[in-house]
Amino acid sequence: MPNEGTGPQPGGGSGVELVPVEPNISSDYFERERHAVFRNVWLKVARVEELAAPGDYLVREFAAPRASLVVVRGADGVLRAFHNVCRHRGNCVVKGERGSARNFVCGFHGWTYDDRGTLGHVPLEEEFGSLDKEALGLLPVALDVWEGFIFVHLDPEPAESLEDYLGEVGSLVRGFPFGEMELAGHWTAQIDSNWKTFQDAFVEAYHVATVHRRSIPDYRKGPVKADLETFGRHGNLTFYLDLHHEPTPAEGWAFQAGSLAFLRGESSAPARERRPPGLNRARKDNWIFDEFLVFPNFHLFVGDGWVLCHDFEPVSAHQTDWSVRYYLQRTDNPVVRIAQEYSKVTMRDTIREDLSTIESTHAAHRSGVLPHMVLSSELEGLIAHHHAVVDGYVERAGGSAA
Ligand code: FES
Ligand SMILES: [Fe+2]
Repeated sequence: MPNEGTGPQPGGGSGVELVPVEPNISSDYFERERHAVFRNVWLKVARVEELAAPGDYLVREFAAPRASLVVVRGADGVLRAFHNVCRHRGNCVVKGERGSARNFVCGFHGWTYDDRGTLGHVPLEEEFGSLDKEALGLLPVALDVWEGFIFVHLDPEPAESLEDYLGEVGSLVRGFPFGEMELAGHWTAQIDSNWKTFQDAFVEAYHVATVHRRSIPDYRKGPVKADLETFGRHGNLTFYLDLHHEPTPAEGWAFQAGSLAFLRGESSAPARERRPPGLNRARKDNWIFDEFLVFPNFHLFVGDGWVLCHDFEPVSAHQTDWSVRYYLQRTDNPVVRIAQEYSKVTMRDTIREDLSTIESTHAAHRSGVLPHMVLSSELEGLIAHHHAVVDGYVERAGGSAA
């Protein structure tokens, strides 16, 4: 497999891994990542439910590969993605984040494209002599769908299909009822941190006992460790709970309601029975969720009846746009709904705690006092792996800064 990480595998080696800090603070390195990584990978853009009806579209700005894309479901039901760049003089064709349209009219001189990207109308076309409108449609990018997640690749004919790109990780959640989830919470922020440093905080469970001591104070009294596994360039963590936890009165009430929510140690039978075999592969009783780091910047958490999606969009070496969406199993049961609201608040508080260390860590890296981070390969192996995979891309494209 091309572009696979060459770094040490989690769980192996001496137990300590040194990961250099320079790639997290170097603007030169970030410029190389723009081209070497972000123009050569499949990037998640949306869920299919966001573009359910013909004509539905959304615009995504990707700062790292410097691309503005419009993703649209055509009248024929087919999803397509294009550069949001007018073929006349380059003005952005579609303004606004999302909507529904049959045609897209460029706001500069009125060139008009249909939902397949075909150039239809050119005002004062006769003044252009013979204009080959067929050759002047919106420029397409590759689009494919995995389990309802829409991905794009800036190369319209990428060397790897999305299926090949995802490899084994693509099959692990097969069968999970993503289509039955509904958006319960959406939080965003612009964080002063390198994207890798930011993501590092979400691929280890080592911090849980300290960072999350308020929101989930005694879930991890025991030595409960996450399992780490790499799948080519991607990573997977499997999280477990300390089942000795005594629920607070509010938790006890919420859990009794049969919620399929975050923090619940025991899932209701229907949810457990529908769990794809790729989740909780160790078949432990205290499984709580699996997390997948889909390279380079999409983190997907999957538990019984819930899904969490983190998108980390690099803006510069020192800034990242972050968006997280929490989805819960659709239900008509008001009691379950209330319990789900409880889980939503817990999730929000937990994530807020996660953010508390990011900017200070990045600022410390920028101070230049640390040449490298000192990681436990048992606990933090996926951090080392992710940095190594990024560096592999950068190196192959012509020069590592590490
Ligand atoms: S730039 Fe779009 S019509 Fe001129
Ligand atoms: Fe956390």
